[in-house]
Amino acid sequence: MNFQESETCAVLMRAYAGECQSHTRYLLAAKEATAQNLPVLRQVFEYTAKQEMIHAQLFAKQLQQQGIAEIQVSAAFPLDPEHDLLKMLQNAQMNEQKEAAEVYASFADTAAHEEQQQTAALFRQIAAIEQSHAERFAQFAVWMQEGRLFCDSRQTVWLCMNCGHIHEGTEPPQNCPVCGAVQGFSVRRGFAPFTV
Ligand SMILES: [Fe+2]
Ligand SMILES: [Fe+2]
Repeated sequence: MNFQESETCAVLMRAYAGECQSHTRYLLAAKEATAQNLPVLRQVFEYTAKQEMIHAQLFAKQLQQQGIAEIQVSAAFPLDPEHDLLKMLQNAQMNEQKEAAEVYASFADTAAHEEQQQTAALFRQIAAIEQSHAERFAQFAVWMQEGRLFCDSRQTVWLCMNCGHIHEGTEPPQNCPVCGAVQGFSVRRGFAPFTV
């Protein structure tokens, strides 16, 4: 079969376009988090955005290797409401979950059906990553919704994402005693999205 006319080619184009738009959507959410003085959420979104760009690159590579030089796609993509960071986290969770459990799972089946095993494997691997994105967004959405981004009922180890200072307590300090960064840079250790 001519690759250009295959279903595998069509789903790779959709996946590429989808990753490009989620990359941008998360950068826009990160920009909003900066405006709302919540650097921890900026880093959560930027960290995930970078990974979506890499996914786009991996899908592009599959197409490039087949000599494809133009993306043709008809698809629906979500658009977040302005300024509502909680909604952005919740939408991100929902979309990642759907991508993992439905979209990429079915794209993997499509590719496997056409005996494009390498592409099928890539869809499965990326689906597993999107599942982890969904879980991280879900966790931050719950903390934000319950007003617990910077407090916990139990003794908790907090990390200043600006300088790396570690603080133990139910709340991180208003300002980091080492670098002076505001509380918005604090994250529970183990949930720090590293941006390097
Ligand atoms: Fe992705
Ligand atoms: Fe993702």
